[in-house]
Amino acid sequence: MLGLLTPTDPKWVETVEGNLGRMLTDHAHCELKAAQNALSLVGRHAAEAPEIVEPLLGLAQEEAEHLAQVHTRAQARGFVMGRPEPDAYVLALREAAKPEHPEIPMLLDRLLLGALIEARSCERFKVLAEGLKSADLREFYRDLMAAEARHYRLYVSLAEQFFGAEATKGRLSVLAEREARIARQLPLGPTVHG
Ligand SMILES: [Fe+2]
Ligand SMILES: [Fe+2]
Repeated sequence: MLGLLTPTDPKWVETVEGNLGRMLTDHAHCELKAAQNALSLVGRHAAEAPEIVEPLLGLAQEEAEHLAQVHTRAQARGFVMGRPEPDAYVLALREAAKPEHPEIPMLLDRLLLGALIEARSCERFKVLAEGLKSADLREFYRDLMAAEARHYRLYVSLAEQFFGAEATKGRLSVLAEREARIARQLPLGPTVHG
């Protein structure tokens, strides 16, 4: 799915049902970080790539809306957003991209890591959309799944625009292999990225 090389075990949904509060509050932080990351890309790379500004501002707005939506659902169930915790998956992914730096442009890797994180979120939301008990949450995750697939394509198309289809494809396949290894190795807890 979306270039991912390893699927999530569908049984993961049982772990999520066992700690829905942890899932929803972690998910809220993921949406917040997605918005922050899009804004940070604008701040860091607008000078060299002014064309990223509008699409990424739109993305940041959409992620902030997702944050509001997941926060509403968490709050309705009595769960409160805690402090942000380090995301082992995202940290490992960034680390895995490092060996080729600085030969690989930072913007290319940031766009492609963004794409892979969106793809993995999309894949996990599909598991939730198909397996959660709550009809409201199943519908919610179905909608989000479609949005994350769109975000994956946005990041890849921005990478192609600036670095060409060939370079994007080559680097994405290297990073996708490393992503698959990380996704397999990390324990599958009740959080978006396991
Ligand atoms: Fe989102
Ligand atoms: Fe997203």
